[in-house]
Formats: sequence, C-alpha cells, structure tokens
Amino acid sequence: MDNKKLDVLRSNVNDLDDKILDLLRERAEIVIEIGKEKKSTSNIVDYDREQKVLDRILQHTKAKYSKDSIVRIWREIFQASTKLQEIDRPTIDTKRSINLINIYKGGKSSLKGKDNIIKLSSNENSYGPSPKVLEKTNIKEALSNAHRYPNIDGAQLRDKLASVHNINANQIVLGCGSDETLLFAALAFCQDGDEIIHAEHGFEMYSIITKIVGATSKLIKEDKNYKVTVNSILEQVSPSTKIIYLANPNNPTGTYLARSEINEILNKLPKNIIMVLDGAYAEYVTKEDYDNSFSFVDQFENIILTRTFSKAYGLAGFRVGFCVSSTEIADYLNRVRQPFNANSLALFAAEKAAPYIHPKLASTTTKIGTDAPVEIRVQWEKEENKNS
Ligand SMILES: Cc1ncc(COP(=O)(O)O)c(C=O)c1O
Repeated sequence: MDNKKLDVLRSNVNDLDDKILDLLRERAEIVIEIGKEKKSTSNIVDYDREQKVLDRILQHTKAKYSKDSIVRIWREIFQASTKLQEIDRPTIDTKRSINLINIYKGGKSSLKGKDNIIKLSSNENSYGPSPKVLEKTNIKEALSNAHRYPNIDGAQLRDKLASVHNINANQIVLGCGSDETLLFAALAFCQDGDEIIHAEHGFEMYSIITKIVGATSKLIKEDKNYKVTVNSILEQVSPSTKIIYLANPNNPTGTYLARSEINEILNKLPKNIIMVLDGAYAEYVTKEDYDNSFSFVDQFENIILTRTFSKAYGLAGFRVGFCVSSTEIADYLNRVRQPFNANSLALFAAEKAAPYIHPKLASTTTKIGTDAPVEIRVQWEKEENKNS
C-alpha cells in the first residue's frame, strides 16, 4: 500500500466534501430566497417540484450511480433545505413520507337505527368462525396462561402450519394479521428512493406501507376489466424496484393471475426484486389454473406468499396471518418482526383452525364483482359438518 498516494487521495476527497458543503449552503440560500418571494417559510419546495428536480437530475446525470442512490442523496438534500427553512420554528420531525399517509379507515360495523346489517366492506367471513374451532378452543385454558408471554415466534403454530401445508417451519413467519407480514417485507428490503410496484386498484395497505418506508409507489395499469397483466407489471420495473405487491386474487377487483402468468413474471423478473403474492383470498378460488399451493417458494428465491386466518378461517378478530418464503428471506423478515407479535389467544385459535380448510373442500360458486373471474369457494363449515 502506497501511504503517500493514499494521503493525497484522502485530501482530495476532503477538498471535494468541503466544496459540496459550500454548494449545499449556496443552494439552501437560494431556496430560502424563493421562500421569501413566495412569502412562505415552510414547504417552499413541494413534492411535485421535488419530483421535477429529481427527474431533471436523473436525466442529466453522467455518473454511474443507481437511480435509487441519486434519489436517496437528493431526498436528504431536500430534507436539509426544509430544516433550514424552519430554523426558527421548533417542530417535531417526522419522516417526510409519513405526512403523505392517509390513515386506513375500516368500514362501518353499525348504523344507528339499523339492526339487520350485512357488512361487506372488510371482507369478513359472514358465517363466523368454524364451529370446529369454537368446539376445540378452550378459552379458559388459553386465558389461564394470560400472565405469560406467548411463544416468542409462534413455534407451535408454525409447526402445525408446516405439517398441514407440507412446508418447512423455518420458512414461515407469523404476523399480527397478514398485514404485518406485508409490512415486514418493506421494512426488511426498502428505504427512501426505492420503488414498490402495486396495482392502482389494489389493497390500500400497499401504498401506506410504501410511504411508511419512504419508498415510491409505481402503479400497475389495469386493463378494461381492472385486471393487471404480466406485461403491465413488468413495464413498471426499474433499477430502483425492490418489491411488487400483488393480491392474487385481487381485492377489490376480484381478478386473478393464473399459475402460468405468475411463473412468467417470476422468470422474467430480476432476482433482486421480491414478489409478494398476497393470498388473503387464496382459499376462495376454484379455478384450475390458479395456484393456491406454496410451490412457487420451491421454484423461486425471490417470492413471499402471504395467507391469513382472517377471511376463509373466520378469525379476523384474532389478527393472525403468516407468510412463506425461502428460509433466507424468512430470516430477514424475522429481524424486523417484534418478538411475541402473535398473541396467545390468536396462536391458540389458529392452531385449532389450521387443518380445517383445504383446497379440496367442495365449494359453492358465487361470483364476486362485475366481470370478476374469481369464484368463491368455501361454506367450509357446511362441509366440515357433512364430514364429521
Ligand atoms: C388483499 C388483502 N390482503 C391482506 C389483507 C389483510 O388481512 P389480515 O391483516 O386480516 O390478515 C386484506 C384484508 O382485507 C386484504 O384484502
């Protein structure tokens, strides 16, 4: 190692850093001047303007930085400018993207003066939990241990799920609802400047999660039947893409992608992009070309499949869901998962419920949505009763 040369190079870097600081100060002074012109001391540069600045820089850059690196650097610069503008105002600093989140609003569960209400907005199971679960769940037994924390990672339920679905327990991560497992993916893999792809008319949590981690939504265009296609998904992929969230079947459109289409996407997708296939309604689909197994995980390293006990299993009130992935991805997800995130009662009920729904169950076929190709399986309670 040539120490002299190293010292010279380091000194050059120091000089450049000083220049960058001077340039940033100069830039901030201009921004403040713009604020004075606009007679505003805050939000001088809004998100639309920032996006234009970013687009221009991305177009002109000659450096070989990746797009997400440039976006990340400039977001920091914008943030620093904002702080300079607000120098006299003590403010609580939030992550900037948090201000863009519209808090998720659940559907109403009651209406004044109406007794007979059919609530459809949250896609709950209107038949209630399986009588089998009610029969097998000894609430007293579960409650008697309420002073103890639950198992730290729900090992018993994961073992049960592993044996029911013929997968490895190390590939399963539990969540407080499958919502939480969707969030784990973004927390583990995304940061400011990254892009997350999801449908324009999809589950609202995808755009909320995107903002939580400071990433940007890239919306998949749908066809006239509100269906996303292999091409419309792949068209949105850029070097900054980290995750694709896809509800299959989709809520609220009821459309779905067939096994062969998911296969095609995964074969064409760069391996550093993770596809999160949200199977909240997987148990309801009866179409032959739909894959409600976990076999994609055996074929592809970059997929996370989510499932929930909230819908077909009728246990929404317990808030328990899970995801299945490679053990490597599961390990990353476990790093952002809080210990004890699935509570004792939820674990207890889900363990009893786990074996009682199966793709082989006979089904009723009720169409949902207009032109929706998805058929609703289930009435599994009836099926259960028939079998017992
Ligand atoms: C597409 C989709 N994914 C995930 C969820 C979340 O379900 P949970 O968090 O109850 O498992 C829902 C709930 O409505 C949904 O519609």
